[in-house]
Amino acid sequence: MKIFLDSANLDEIKTLNETGLIDGVTTNPSLIAKSGMNFIDTIGKICLIVNGPVSAEVTGINKETMVKEGQKLSKIAPNVVVKVPLTIEGLKACKSLADDKIKVNVTLCFNAAQAILAAKAGATYISPFIGRLDDIGADGMNLIAEIVEIYSIYNFQTEVLAASIRSVQDVVDSAKFGSDVATLPPKILRAMYSHPLTERGLDAFLNDWEKTGQSIL
Ligand code: E4P
Repeated sequence: MKIFLDSANLDEIKTLNETGLIDGVTTNPSLIAKSGMNFIDTIGKICLIVNGPVSAEVTGINKETMVKEGQKLSKIAPNVVVKVPLTIEGLKACKSLADDKIKVNVTLCFNAAQAILAAKAGATYISPFIGRLDDIGADGMNLIAEIVEIYSIYNFQTEVLAASIRSVQDVVDSAKFGSDVATLPPKILRAMYSHPLTERGLDAFLNDWEKTGQSIL
């Protein structure tokens, strides 16, 4: 499963990209607003840091505007993926951009029916929002499982990108259910590698090693 960072914070992206574990980045208008930075500049800078796909979201509400915005965004760098919302106008924009060979991430997906339409519109990625479904008492992970199953029956090429991830368990479950990608807030990526038993075990090993008086180098 590929790991994307869900962030528009350049420092975070730079630092975590140094791990070599980051396959791409997703942003949205809220993350851009939180960064306090210029949208176009920020996407350009993220694309220079990360080699993989970088999602940049349109803000128009009709197909024509979304397509124009998408064309502009796609020219920022070759790894830009245009993000459109899962509305009928977004789907029309997705079809048009995809026909022009521009990669599209269809976002704000909350059921499998929407995911079928995104695949038919030629989306490169579909972004089901797990956490926001869980927030209203629905089962976000079940949606991942349903979409993965349907896409595999019909051999749709659209990749399932688990979004709105709130916990390490969400990442593990997304992997178990066959999601192609999970996009993680930086704090979830950090939480993935931290384990108290790892730390305790390493302390003990290093303590014992010191007693040997040896050095590997
Ligand atoms: C990803 O593309 C989404 O923008 C993001 O995961 C949304 O997450 P949230 O529900 O925590 O805002």
